[in-house]
Amino acid sequence: MSANDVGAVDEFTSGEARQVRVGARTLVIVRIEDDFYVLDDRCSHEDYSLAEGEVDQAGATIECARHGAIFDLTDGTPQSFPATQPVARYDVVVRDGRVEVTIP
Ligand code: FES
Repeated sequence: MSANDVGAVDEFTSGEARQVRVGARTLVIVRIEDDFYVLDDRCSHEDYSLAEGEVDQAGATIECARHGAIFDLTDGTPQSFPATQPVARYDVVVRDGRVEVTIP
């Protein structure tokens, strides 16, 4: 496992999704208030970037911009069709003002 620095906390705005690359992976990072969530940046329905989607801060979900599938940011599970498979999630922590994603 490795911890990967993906930026300073202040670089992320609450309610926005941002694509980041960590090694060979393309991830989407979402900040909601002081919490961070990280999923694979690939909708499980078709190959489409979740970072293009809309974040629901109250529900901690992200909606795929292509066909509208909604994913739980806490665990990557789909909440609505057309997606039926989860998206991988990753552990993320804030350390000394930096955001670190753990890649297994
Ligand atoms: S590509 Fe995401 S819902 Fe179809």
